[in-house]
Amino acid sequence: MVLSRMLSISLLPACLRCTIRLISRRSLATRHFRRTLPPTILSEVFTKVKTKKLAYADFGKDATTESDLQRAVSFVQPCLKEELLCKFAEPVQDCCHKVTVVGSGMVGVAITNSLLLQGITPHIAMVDAFPKKLEGEGMDYSHGSVFLDDPRIDFDTDFCITSNSKVIIIAAGVRQVKGETRLDLVQRNSEILKNIIPTLVGYSPNAVFLIVSNPVDILSWVTWKVSGLPASRVIGSGTHLDTARFRYLIADRLGIAPSSVKAYIIGEHGESQVPLWSGVNVAGVQFRDILPNIGLETDEERWYEISKEVVRLGPTVRCLKGYSNTAIGLSVGDIVSCILKNSQRVIPVSTLIQGHHEVCHETFLSLPCSIGENGVNNIVRMRITELEKKQFQTSANVVYNVQKDVKTS
Ligand SMILES: NC(=O)c1ccc[n+]([C@@H]2O[C@H](COP(=O)([O-])OP(=O)(O)OC[C@H]3O[C@@H](n4cnc5c(N)ncnc54)[C@H](O)[C@@H]3O)[C@@H](O)[C@H]2O)c1
Repeated sequence: MVLSRMLSISLLPACLRCTIRLISRRSLATRHFRRTLPPTILSEVFTKVKTKKLAYADFGKDATTESDLQRAVSFVQPCLKEELLCKFAEPVQDCCHKVTVVGSGMVGVAITNSLLLQGITPHIAMVDAFPKKLEGEGMDYSHGSVFLDDPRIDFDTDFCITSNSKVIIIAAGVRQVKGETRLDLVQRNSEILKNIIPTLVGYSPNAVFLIVSNPVDILSWVTWKVSGLPASRVIGSGTHLDTARFRYLIADRLGIAPSSVKAYIIGEHGESQVPLWSGVNVAGVQFRDILPNIGLETDEERWYEISKEVVRLGPTVRCLKGYSNTAIGLSVGDIVSCILKNSQRVIPVSTLIQGHHEVCHETFLSLPCSIGENGVNNIVRMRITELEKKQFQTSANVVYNVQKDVKTS
């Protein structure tokens, strides 16, 4: 109508042709940009164009000062694309290293940082139940993509964007509040997992599932149960982080680099974890050969304080900054890197340990495992002391006693 007033009757047929072309380009633009623009921006732009309530009217401008024609010119971009690029073949939609991060809270963001800043994957899909934070995070990452080797970053509340992922990381759920143990969280987070895991498996039936939400050992077991996947394809981040803290504290006391300290913490990612003092070494020199009672209460050098400190570090960080995210983000990045590179590197992660160290319960706990493209490939048969074995069994009982009351159906 505006056009017919502006232009003479004789020009009307040409105008109509022009309008039809613009409308078809606009629908092309809608199709083209739907994947790259954030959802609310899209809905705003396209709803307003459809209803002709124009954005600049909000700024006190007369909506008639710009013609429909001029406004429609903002959708001409795809033409430039057509002029510039001669389409030869459709691009692959989901690259073979696609990683999904479910949960865009503090931990999900730290994991995404770790994956993108270290170039571990070129394709991330971020999902969260709550759109506002997700959209903000997704936009923020997208704006930085030029500095990150141009990764593809998808974000949506719709799980369909996770399709064909190689790794699916679960960092969704509630975190511990002050005074709450990881095990107290179990029921609340189990319910979330029971709702989301089957959908995620449906979209990515060949993915490795990496569980980070707490209590990580029980939630890994819940994931395994509700997913129907082989146990090897469900991994809990487990004591990989505790082990890193253990190595850091030992190294700090010795004044050497943490990566030069070889040590493991096995068992629960929680209070019943087991520091393997019998295996701690630097350059192959076993600490136990120098200090036979290292790690025991009788040790005059009080090295056992380090393993006690490791248990306290998570709550301490949470107490100081309100949450813990950076170290777990890096630890998860390391596990994902092992999977995507099919590296077979041995790291302690939570896996089905039934039958190991005489544990008969069907529980997930951490043991050193070699990790590859299809998840856990080997569990190392650790040569541990009788005391460490007993502690590991106690840890399994602690986890099982909570897990046995969790319903998976
Ligand atoms: N394994 C570890 O070492 C370790 C370390 C730190 C935290 N965590 C755990 O990680 C989890 C997340 O911690 P956080 O600090 O990021 O919490 P957070 O509250 O900041 O974020 C949790 C996110 O999960 C989302 N969410 C909730 N329900 C959802 C659903 N059904 N689908 C999709 N998204 C959903 C929320 O919207 C929120 O954005 C907690 O369980 C916490 O205990 C584990």
